[in-house]
Amino acid sequence: MRNWTSLWPTLKRLLAYGRPHRRPLTLAVLMLWLAAAAEVAGPIVISYFIDHILPEKMMPFWTVAGLVLVFLALQVLAAALRYFQALLFNRTALSVVQQLRTEVMDAALRQPLSVFDTQPVGQLISRVTNDTEVVKDLYVTVVASVLRSVALIGAMLVAMFLLDWRLACISLILFPVVIVVMWLYQHYSTPIVRRLRTYVADINDGFNEAINGMGVIQQFRQQQRFGAKLQRESHAHLQTRMATLRLEGYLLRPMLSLLFALILCGMLLLFGLSPRVAIGVVVLYAFINYLGRLNEPLIELTSQQSIMQQAAVAGERIFELMEGPAQHYGLDDRPLGGGAIAVRDLEFAYRRGLPVLRHISLTAPAKSFIALVWHTGSGKSTLASLMMGYYPVNPGTLLLDGRPIETLSHRVLRQGVAMVQQDPVVMAETVYANVTLGRELSEQQVWHALEQVQLEPLVRTLPGGLHA
Ligand SMILES: Nc1ncnc2c1ncn2[C@@H]1O[C@H](COP(=O)(O)OP(=O)(O)O)[C@@H](O)[C@H]1O
Ligand SMILES: [Mg+2]
Repeated sequence: MRNWTSLWPTLKRLLAYGRPHRRPLTLAVLMLWLAAAAEVAGPIVISYFIDHILPEKMMPFWTVAGLVLVFLALQVLAAALRYFQALLFNRTALSVVQQLRTEVMDAALRQPLSVFDTQPVGQLISRVTNDTEVVKDLYVTVVASVLRSVALIGAMLVAMFLLDWRLACISLILFPVVIVVMWLYQHYSTPIVRRLRTYVADINDGFNEAINGMGVIQQFRQQQRFGAKLQRESHAHLQTRMATLRLEGYLLRPMLSLLFALILCGMLLLFGLSPRVAIGVVVLYAFINYLGRLNEPLIELTSQQSIMQQAAVAGERIFELMEGPAQHYGLDDRPLGGGAIAVRDLEFAYRRGLPVLRHISLTAPAKSFIALVWHTGSGKSTLASLMMGYYPVNPGTLLLDGRPIETLSHRVLRQGVAMVQQDPVVMAETVYANVTLGRELSEQQVWHALEQVQLEPLVRTLPGGLHA
């Protein structure tokens, strides 16, 4: 996987999407620190109890009750703060992802049509859904848990140093070793995580292919083969996911646990060798408690790295799509009149070097009716696409009403040129919505249109009529 410096700009850009949510985020971070402080204060309260109250024969009831209450209150406060903090983070994360998804979708819709000739649909879908989902993980798990872990570790270190600096120094050995463990984990998990993403893309592509080709698949009775293929892919995904879990189970946890055990030994050694007074049992208790709690945030920090990398890679793919060229139209907004067509020396290729049309010249006077007849694959539909303005015309000229097609605005083109396609596209919506396609048309106008294509009697028989 790529190194961090190359991914950082993308991560920064992704994080910048959180900027409009600065206020709730600041509040959430504040809550995090408060929660960490409340959590860290728990063992201190207990050590106070052990230190001051246990040695006395008669425990003063009110002091004990007070301490119990303070301890409970701190835990409840920590839990409540954590709840509200999680709520704030998640809300921000979801709105950021929604924003990103809207922008990606807009970009995808504005792409030049030529892009769709070469790019598999599955890839586009995976950018809009999966990649943005990974970015959501960046916000929900990484940002939240990194901030949380850092707050917790910071608060514990402060408490440790306040309690006993010598023991705290022993605990500091932890950090360089943890960095090594993190590096090792990263080293071994990176290839697995990368494989995981390929499998996700494969599964997406497979589904897309199967659903799009359902007619053909069933016609040739290929259900079983396709089912088996999808099953293989999803099994591979499962295996790889298990590998990441195993890595976490074998490497991360045992390694860190061993480390904590070693540090504990060091502390006990220091405790046993030094005169009793120097380090109290109480302080030792608090330290053991803190060390136990450090485990979780450190594991979290380590396992978040891969999500962060995945998010950066996903972000790159998203931004690449957003910054890609958009379908281009001219600015001439005057409506088309008669609709005379003149084509001169037109050439066109979907792929460079593989011309589909060559030296095409034709004229169709206004209000005339012509038919293009030639064998399949000769380029008739391509010519129609060019007249719709789907692709840039170059070289050659294509004049509508004597005006070059590339100067016409999108509105003029769509109002002046209509195409009746071979494959009808029917959206899963009402008849009304399928006819109007978002335009403001009255029901009467829609009925009129249906009459013209002889669909009116059929729609009349539908129980919901236009809104069926
Ligand atoms: N979107 C596309 N991308 C690449 N090549 C295409 C695309 N559409 C059509 N072609 C190729 O262009 C040629 C002309 O196709 P087309 O215009 O559909 O012919 P016709 O409509 O006359 O049957 C064919 O060789 C076809 O394979
Ligand atoms: Mg055709």
